[in-house]
Amino acid sequence: MKLCMIGTGYVGLVSGVCFADLGNDVICVDKDNDKITKLKEGIIPIYEPGLEELVKKNYKLKRLSFTSNISDAVKKSNIIFICVGTPTKKNSNAADLSQIFKVAKEISKNIKSFKIIINKSTVPVTTGDEVEKIISKKINKKLFSVVSNPEFLREGEAIRDFIYPDRVVIGTSNKKTNKVLKSLYSPLISKGAKYINTSRRGAELIKYASNAFLATKISFINELANLCEKTDVNVEDISIGMGLDKRIGGRFLRAGPAYGGSCFPKDTRAIVDTGSKFKTDLSIIKAVIKSNKDRSKLLLNRVSKILKNKIRNKKICFLGVTFKANTDDMRESSSIKMIPYLSKKGAKITYFDPTGYKKEFKNFKNVYNAKTIKEACNDSDLIIIHTEWNDFKSLNFEKLNKKKNFFIYDMRNILQNGKIKKNNKRYFGIGK
Ligand code: UDX
Repeated sequence: MKLCMIGTGYVGLVSGVCFADLGNDVICVDKDNDKITKLKEGIIPIYEPGLEELVKKNYKLKRLSFTSNISDAVKKSNIIFICVGTPTKKNSNAADLSQIFKVAKEISKNIKSFKIIINKSTVPVTTGDEVEKIISKKINKKLFSVVSNPEFLREGEAIRDFIYPDRVVIGTSNKKTNKVLKSLYSPLISKGAKYINTSRRGAELIKYASNAFLATKISFINELANLCEKTDVNVEDISIGMGLDKRIGGRFLRAGPAYGGSCFPKDTRAIVDTGSKFKTDLSIIKAVIKSNKDRSKLLLNRVSKILKNKIRNKKICFLGVTFKANTDDMRESSSIKMIPYLSKKGAKITYFDPTGYKKEFKNFKNVYNAKTIKEACNDSDLIIIHTEWNDFKSLNFEKLNKKKNFFIYDMRNILQNGKIKKNNKRYFGIGK
């Protein structure tokens, strides 16, 4: 099939490349000329394991192309995916849909034959209705159909999540459109993905509800971890004990420093905003947002306690600063709160992240980006494991740090007990 993806971020580029790899002809569109030029040279603007090879392979096979000319791309495609950003509006919880509506207007100028227009961006319920209204100002409703098809891709696992999704959600009541999309996704369905056809608004809400629930699971186990620390219980036993109940499931029950990223924070705020627009109080999700927001303070209090409230001039090492492993994404990472706070308290901070230097810390005194793990750890009073990169899972800290009597704060509980002697008074985890 002939597809075009408008927007070449995580969603547009990954979905576009994967659709091409399934044998479709895909045009990826972006208004950023520089990005398009780089993509044509095989330079990928995002850090996503496996993406570069897939882009180069499909570009070489001419199943994948890149352009900044949206009208040309729309005219040549039968199915148009809108994959532009829907960030949180300034001083509000609402999603900014200006890019979605701008693209919808552009599309409406270029419809000469029947088109399926798909919102793949995460959009609040009823956005599809708005897009349909915009397009029908210029185009007869018989010539297009607007569908919601949310993605469930995790950064760092996006290709795998596309090829092996748990479910494909298609929001449309148009039978012909549904049939076309079921055929587009048939290679994934034949590999075991479930196909769900629901209303367009239903599909929009499934996306937000899913992310809000995952964020709830994480905040739930994070708060249980607080209780475990007070009752000398290991939160990992709780996660396993709970997770074996098929009604709960063991995933997304790993206690940590707070959820971050470009989705959970944005989507929990947006669904609460939708709730207030429809006079429905989503009090549980509001509590999740607050719990997650307050979490960094809790963990910083523990850092102070570990250092006996003497932070000034202490050398603190951060291993990992991204919001999770296998990504270079810093959006709403808890390190963005923690490092400036400790720097202002007079600590000397060194961080190492496999994805390198972070501009987020450039204006803070005493914050230095180490080029190696050893350089980061050496001479530290406290080593904090902030992100669960594999690089940190089997380190021999005594070899990396000449200083005696240093502490380790493992905010991801990734150090196997084998590496840390039992009852090691200098090791602190989360929820244990
Ligand atoms: C998320 C959703 O998982 C994905 O389905 C959606 O399409 C986009 O948003 P992403 O934000 O890329 O994906 O990462 P995810 O792996 O979900 O982690 C989000 C945050 O939760 C990270 O900060 C991660 O460290 C944290 N997390 C995740 C936990 O603290 N504990 C867990 O058990 C899982």
